[in-house]
Amino acid sequence: MAQSQLTQNDQKIIDALKKLPADYWDFKTADVREYTHGLHNYPAMMVCPISRKIIDLVRNIRPIHTLLDPFMGSGTVLVEGMLAGIPLVYGTDVNPLALFLSKVKTTPLDNQQLQQAAGQLYKRLVNKYQSCAALIDQADEIMRRDYQLDLTAKNGWGSQAPVYLNQFIEAHHLALTIPQFKNMGYWFKPRVILLLSLIKTEIDQIEQQSIKDFMFVAFSETIRFVSNRRNGEFKMFRMKAEQVEAFAPDVIQKFADILTRNIDKMKAFSESSLTKTAAPLFVFILIMLCICAIFLMNRSI
Ligand SMILES: C[S@@+](CC[C@H](N)C(=O)[O-])C[C@H]1O[C@@H](n2cnc3c(N)ncnc32)[C@H](O)[C@@H]1O
Repeated sequence: MAQSQLTQNDQKIIDALKKLPADYWDFKTADVREYTHGLHNYPAMMVCPISRKIIDLVRNIRPIHTLLDPFMGSGTVLVEGMLAGIPLVYGTDVNPLALFLSKVKTTPLDNQQLQQAAGQLYKRLVNKYQSCAALIDQADEIMRRDYQLDLTAKNGWGSQAPVYLNQFIEAHHLALTIPQFKNMGYWFKPRVILLLSLIKTEIDQIEQQSIKDFMFVAFSETIRFVSNRRNGEFKMFRMKAEQVEAFAPDVIQKFADILTRNIDKMKAFSESSLTKTAAPLFVFILIMLCICAIFLMNRSI
């Protein structure tokens, strides 16, 4: 922007930024996973205290009524906007996962309702798992023995997993739907795919869309941890073959742990953002009531 196009407030913001010490933006010890920021990983997430401090700094100079993040990613800036009580918060992104995560992270949910839905889901999961546990837990062994498959190979199991698993569920009358995508068996072992399908089937039963979406965020986060992917790395690399061979994650427990963690984070967010955004609404209602009262008084005089 040319210097002449800057407003006085723009200049004040620039001056305030320039006055900050060089290490101001480090936030080395900050909790960047608090509130709904920590529901799900996303590449190159904004460090939340940065947007919080920028909002504070701008707000000290001029009021903020609207916030737009045109590259919102998983919604860090939007969440901070809501926590700051900004009345209108918008975002866009080209990535459908970003849209989904941002929507869930910025939709406050009632804690009691969420706890209840999670309890019911967990109960259904355990019941369904127990009804076919012996079969699901033997799936890896059955694939090796009956189908002569190497579960670490890129071809065979690696490229044809849906074909083998569909034969398996048909033969054993399992009411599960197997997803289809390229190299699925390279990234997941048979037992893990069956357990993930079981969880997805049960989440799909939830009627209230916002709660269902919340559960799917925990499900999506679970998928990464129970896949054969090397964890803690940005790029997608698979574990070594011997590690894949030995890998047997507790899928349902992992999902339950992530869901419990996420419910706590949503509680903190809902309680905080609702209190703050409720304040301007309360003031607005109060002003409207005063106007109505004055109008009625004038009419009756
Ligand atoms: C670094 S992330 C943004 C982080 C985000 N501001 C936050 O608060 O965490 C960059 C995002 O820009 C999105 N993006 C890249 N090109 C885009 C485009 N042409 N239109 C919309 N979104 C785009 C990517 O999908 C990605 O989610």
